[in-house]
Amino acid sequence: MITNRTYTVEPWSVRETSLNLDLLAQSESVFALSNGHVGWRGNLDEGEPHGLPGTYLNGVHELHPLPYAEAGYGYPESGQTVINVTNGKLMRLLVDDEPFDLRYGRLVKHERTLDLRRGVLERVCEWTSPAGSTVRVRSTRLVSLTQRAIAAVQYEVEPVDDSTRVVIQSGLVANESLPDPDGDPRTARALQSPLEPEEHMAAGPRLRLVHRTRRSGLRVAVAADHMVDGPDETTMASESNVDVARFTVTAVLEPGQRLRVRKTVAHGWSSTRSRPAMGDQVEAALAAAAHSGWDGLVEEQRSYLDDFWARADVEVHGDEEIQQAVRFALFHVLQAGARAEQRAIPAKGLTGSGYDGHAFWDTEMFVLPVLTYTEPRAVAEVLRWRCDTLPAARDRAAQLGLRGAAFPWRTIDGSEGSAYWPAGTAAFHVTADIAHAAVRYAAATGDTEFERGTGLELLVESARLWRSLGHHDHHGVFHIDGVTGPDEYSAIADDNTYTNLMARSNLLSAADACERFPDEAARLGVDEEESATWRDAAEAVHIPYNDELGVHEQDSGYTRHQRWDFATTGADQYPLMLHFPYFDLYRKQVVKQSDLVLAMYTCGSWFDEHCDEEQIARNFAYYEPLTVRDSSLSACCQAVMAAQTGHLRLAYDYAAEAALMDLADLEHNTRDGLHIASLAGTWMALVAGFGGTRRDGESLRFAPRLPEKFSRLAFRLQFRGRCLQVEIEADKATYTLLNGAPVTIHHHGEPLRMNGDGPVVRAVPAPPRRTAPEQPPHRRPNVR
Ligand code: BGC
Repeated sequence: MITNRTYTVEPWSVRETSLNLDLLAQSESVFALSNGHVGWRGNLDEGEPHGLPGTYLNGVHELHPLPYAEAGYGYPESGQTVINVTNGKLMRLLVDDEPFDLRYGRLVKHERTLDLRRGVLERVCEWTSPAGSTVRVRSTRLVSLTQRAIAAVQYEVEPVDDSTRVVIQSGLVANESLPDPDGDPRTARALQSPLEPEEHMAAGPRLRLVHRTRRSGLRVAVAADHMVDGPDETTMASESNVDVARFTVTAVLEPGQRLRVRKTVAHGWSSTRSRPAMGDQVEAALAAAAHSGWDGLVEEQRSYLDDFWARADVEVHGDEEIQQAVRFALFHVLQAGARAEQRAIPAKGLTGSGYDGHAFWDTEMFVLPVLTYTEPRAVAEVLRWRCDTLPAARDRAAQLGLRGAAFPWRTIDGSEGSAYWPAGTAAFHVTADIAHAAVRYAAATGDTEFERGTGLELLVESARLWRSLGHHDHHGVFHIDGVTGPDEYSAIADDNTYTNLMARSNLLSAADACERFPDEAARLGVDEEESATWRDAAEAVHIPYNDELGVHEQDSGYTRHQRWDFATTGADQYPLMLHFPYFDLYRKQVVKQSDLVLAMYTCGSWFDEHCDEEQIARNFAYYEPLTVRDSSLSACCQAVMAAQTGHLRLAYDYAAEAALMDLADLEHNTRDGLHIASLAGTWMALVAGFGGTRRDGESLRFAPRLPEKFSRLAFRLQFRGRCLQVEIEADKATYTLLNGAPVTIHHHGEPLRMNGDGPVVRAVPAPPRRTAPEQPPHRRPNVR
């Protein structure tokens, strides 16, 4: 059980009622606001104290050389790191003659609330300065989901007892200094002063700064406008220099009087547009926001979110923490993808600079499944971004002596950014993950235009990669040797089952798509012979199995390896990668994160065809005692398969781990940004786990079963123009087609025709009885 919660448990908000400076960096991630284009960390309005200042623009990065002690052919030479761009959040405050700084004086009251329905961060605090003046400060902040360049702050100050002179300095600041990284490879490198000034302007309430990154040559423009409401004698001034533009408001306030500043900030960036064009772009965005006004922006935000929640909400009865957590998760997943518009969704979204702001397979295998069924438009955008990066992926494949496209393991601009090739370049599965996401999106939406264009191109180029990466042995069996699967504690292995099954499905989907769209396929140079070789490879793919143990192997020979010595590994030696050399992890049976278990979920139809339920349960039980969950991507996958195999109690504990990853800071690194894949995994654990939801071609199957603690779970899915509602209670499931054409779905194997003429109710069968599997010592999930 998680005790000492930092945030109160409420269904629709996340609230902090005291300020703990040690947890400031963590709360900056939790309270981050973003729309997928602009991201503002939840830094305090006054800028200091801070954990990690952060303002991000999706795609804005700097390049740096990747140094190698021993270089090798094909090593990526240039790395990419997200940069902290011009900060428009800043509202410094002077109270009489002292700076409002919570490290001094006395904080009488402090509360910050992330409102998941209104999409705003609110703050109320009361502070007494060291000299004894007490002021009340309220702020409301939003990053607009409807106007993607725009963020806005309303900042209000009032004296509590005496007449007080206050000065608010609203700023735009570039090149803020950043704390040094702590040596954990998962944190970002700090690039100090990444922006070169090009233009600064301050005219009355309007401010503007334009900068350019040195190596990547990206131009960043940020502009602000202000509306002031205060006593008649309020004075205003503004000034700017290369890295700072400032609007200053001064007033003497009597108790009962208030000074209010409403600030709108517009952000833009480009690799091609000129300085004047960028200046105009942000000024135009400000004009559009002014047209809506503050109230308009707040209303638009609310109505955007009302629509989203009507499609996407998940209701949990019986566990208030998970109820809150799943909404928090959905909110942040939406924020990460809503307006990404042909850009990546990084592993941390735009909530922090962890992992250098890179996007991984997290996007396609964790985040996009959620968005496919809740905000499908965003999925097409992300996949279009992948498609835009095909030239780089083709070049990478060619450099590696392969055909088709080899997508990067980690990237911002589409080129490979991983300097560690055994867990980077060799993790080829990312290419099949992208293809899988394209197939999932097309099947779940029926978007044929996408399928014919972006989808087909992604499928063809990825199929070509697999065909050239694998080979047929003299028996005709198709092998993919020397690759790294999802489990990063194994590398350069032969026939990784996850990779082989994902490649198989990629090859078959590509061949099918070429048959459906022969003209477009011909334009991509695919002939019948080529697609026949894809089918041959797919049908002959090797899936390693150990007859003696009766389990599928993670890769060929995996089960023969020595088991990790869990008994002598201390609780404080996790994550193992920070305490043991990779060479030792690689040669032993120890699983960082679900791999074979994930394959049973993502390639479930292959397992359904080739094995019975007992085999799946045996596989799950075999990998449980080996899986240490040193990646936050694991718990949700284990939750899904624990639920499928009837271990509902265990599934519940894993679901809670995924759900509370950031709210309870389970991995102690939420400060670097949120674990967006784990947040998405919360939805996956509930919908695919307890809902037993699986896509079967163009139809949906459900096999719901609740853990004892839940009295009800309800969710909605968007599917091929329909909205389907699923409500599960202990003994029954109710399906309702809320809108859209009739459809056939399945409940525990039974076909149900949904005509839209009312709910269909079915009994939920009891789960099979199975002995609960063990986990490695110290790595059992918390029992709730
Ligand atoms: C995991 C990867 C993941 C990355 C970013 C790593 O720890 O092993 O699977 O893509 O984190 O979340």
